Amino acid sequence: MKYRAPRGTRDILPDESWKWQRVESVFRETAARFGYSEIRTPVFEETELFARGIGDSTDIVRKEMYTFADRKGRSLTLRPEGTAGVVRAYVEHALGRGGRVTKLFYFCPMFRYERPQAGRYRQFWQWGLESLGSLSPVVDAEIIHFSVSLFARLGIRGTEARVNSAGCRECTPAYNALLKERLAVRLPEFCEDCRARFERNPRRMFDCKNEACLTVLKDAPSILGSLCDGCRRHFERVQAYLARMSVPFRVDTSLARGLDYYTKTVFEVHYHGLGAQSALCGGGRYDQLVEDAGGDPTPACGVSSGVERLIAALESEGALPEAQPGPAVVVVTMGDEASLAGAALAAALRERAAVEMDYQDRSIKAQLRDAARLGARVAVIVGADEVARGEAVVKDMASGEQRSLPVGEVVGEVARLLAA
Ligand code: HAM
Repeated sequence: MKYRAPRGTRDILPDESWKWQRVESVFRETAARFGYSEIRTPVFEETELFARGIGDSTDIVRKEMYTFADRKGRSLTLRPEGTAGVVRAYVEHALGRGGRVTKLFYFCPMFRYERPQAGRYRQFWQWGLESLGSLSPVVDAEIIHFSVSLFARLGIRGTEARVNSAGCRECTPAYNALLKERLAVRLPEFCEDCRARFERNPRRMFDCKNEACLTVLKDAPSILGSLCDGCRRHFERVQAYLARMSVPFRVDTSLARGLDYYTKTVFEVHYHGLGAQSALCGGGRYDQLVEDAGGDPTPACGVSSGVERLIAALESEGALPEAQPGPAVVVVTMGDEASLAGAALAAALRERAAVEMDYQDRSIKAQLRDAARLGARVAVIVGADEVARGEAVVKDMASGEQRSLPVGEVVGEVARLLAA
């Protein structure tokens, strides 16, 4: 074979794409119920938007961005995530004019140069929500509720929502100092990357994928003891809202997100059937990002979720049918004249239902076998005799009953059978 899809990318073929359509349509419907409208931003943005927004010391910016110079030498980057581009568009188009809350959703591919493994790709899809303009903890709780209820609506049981606080610019210096003080003595136990993180930004040590480092980090102090009054109160309120909304959750003080823009609430929803890459979604509040991107101070909160992982979870839960639902009707024909009559019937029937027909001059027996394999509910059969009589046979595939009818009555009879 001469060409293959680039490493870390994959083709979504028809035997799988129907699963994607199902996830996307349930997601869109749920987003509408929660009052979110779609935004589509460019696949690439100025590199600086991501470098500043996600943070220079994060793995995403340091190691994982697809960055290139265009023909005029501008540095551009394929979006590694959706939030920065949404914030850029929000500021550029003054979407928050008049102080209103803006609720946006997206469903699109992202790009990260990561080491590919199960559940981790270089091009992957995310659904995401961003709610801009409110400081209220009810927004954070609603976004967590959205995530958990979407997974449940899709048929995934046993997800676990983990929540934590990232603090704000007021509490961060004290926490960083505490972390440095406690971890300094244990520095030799950490990997080289973590030792560099310790110098740059000790909280990024929580991003490490190395088991040995994570074990030492279990002894690190929790941020909850360093929160300022505002962050502590906000975190309590988020938990109160979640409890009142009957959203099960667990406070996980070791939860740290891999992006620098978070303030206050951070959360992830995990599904244990996925192995190492068990985070179905992650998000949180980012109250400084709009201002940092040149807009007016605007509190905001959001979430994104990897669609490949979601589909893997649906498969492991057995929450999807075995195969794509087939056509409702198959038109079976034999001979050139019958093919003409059959094509006319298929054209008329397609106004009402999904219809398949033969394109390969196969035997009637083979065509009927196919109709059964595809799960068709009705077969419409036209052979030379039927053509001569101006008729077609309508067969109920479940009962095996069949009737020969004038061509003009076929559409009505098929509709009757499909409605039964
Ligand atoms: P993130 O945690 O980097 O957050 O990614 C969110 C989700 O995307 C992950 O939980 C995972 O399901 C999926 N994901 C991430 N990387 C990969 C990959 N290489 N392959 C497959 N799936 C992946 C964000 O992207 C933030 N923008 C979330 C957010 C929105 N925060 C506020 N608003």
